Amino acid sequence: MALAVVKPVVEETAPQQKKAMVAINSVTMSFGTFVAVEDVNLTVADGEFLAIVGPTGCGKSTILNAIAGLLKPTSGSVSIDDNRVSGIQNDIGYLFQQDALLPWKTAIENVELGLLIRGVSALKRRERSMAWLAKVGLKGFEQRYPHQLSGGQRKRVQMAQALISGPKVILMDEPFSALDIHTRHLMQNELLRLWQEERRAVVMITHDLEEAIALGDRVAVLAAGPRSRVINSFPVDLERPRDVAEIKLDPRFMDLYRNIWASLRGEVEKSYERRD
Ligand SMILES: Nc1ncnc2c1ncn2[C@@H]1O[C@H](COP(=O)(O)OP(=O)(O)OP(=O)(O)O)[C@@H](O)[C@H]1O
Ligand SMILES: [Mg+2]
Repeated sequence: MALAVVKPVVEETAPQQKKAMVAINSVTMSFGTFVAVEDVNLTVADGEFLAIVGPTGCGKSTILNAIAGLLKPTSGSVSIDDNRVSGIQNDIGYLFQQDALLPWKTAIENVELGLLIRGVSALKRRERSMAWLAKVGLKGFEQRYPHQLSGGQRKRVQMAQALISGPKVILMDEPFSALDIHTRHLMQNELLRLWQEERRAVVMITHDLEEAIALGDRVAVLAAGPRSRVINSFPVDLERPRDVAEIKLDPRFMDLYRNIWASLRGEVEKSYERRD
């Protein structure tokens, strides 16, 4: 009888075996008597890209703001790197949906803001901001004001601003939804490229299920509000690096889409019914 060939064991670090960078423990968020989200439990491993989808008004931004320390949970707790969040966090980079650049500051001055609160010297701030603008494809645009930049270019400046400080956690609230589809694909690929260089924990909120699957390691689905909660969490086992336009043609992408949509669809329908 032939001896069984023992294959080398490839060590795979599953996300849950890695250190939890963000831990949301039994979080309930209320506004007065209105309970927006109830008993939400989510962890994001260091280096993991978590995408959160859910119908409009279900509490996605509210959860993100709790991680950022902008809102305090009514009950439960949020921790970043084992430290309980109890105020505005310095360890995070926040990419907002809307333009969040200061209109009276140039591109480079806006990027420098990302370092200002950290007490980095003026010279170093300028040096690092120049490098980051080049990194996001804006070499030569340093002295432009936001109104002299396109929507995609402004997003690039925001990305540099959010990432320059090397945050432990990157929070993104529908950052690309205002962009046209081609610019969106470009920006999504750009984001993946930057993230691959130095993996951080990411929590991205999106309406766009395709975006969630194309970018994420995992997609969490929230229920329709009020009292929204996490109803499902799907691992996305597609290889990296990914090209967001091409990956959508992969049959496994389509299977995932079908599965997650089956879970999300009912919640979206409920949220429309409740609006009337
Ligand atoms: N400061 C507030 N005061 C009262 N209610 C609020 C406040 N902020 C949010 N809400 C309510 O909490 C719920 C969740 O809001 P949130 O902005 O988190 O939704 P969302 O999932 O981000 O929606 P969208 O996809 O439209 O951005 C909504 O019903 C909203 O009206
Ligand atoms: Mg929102």
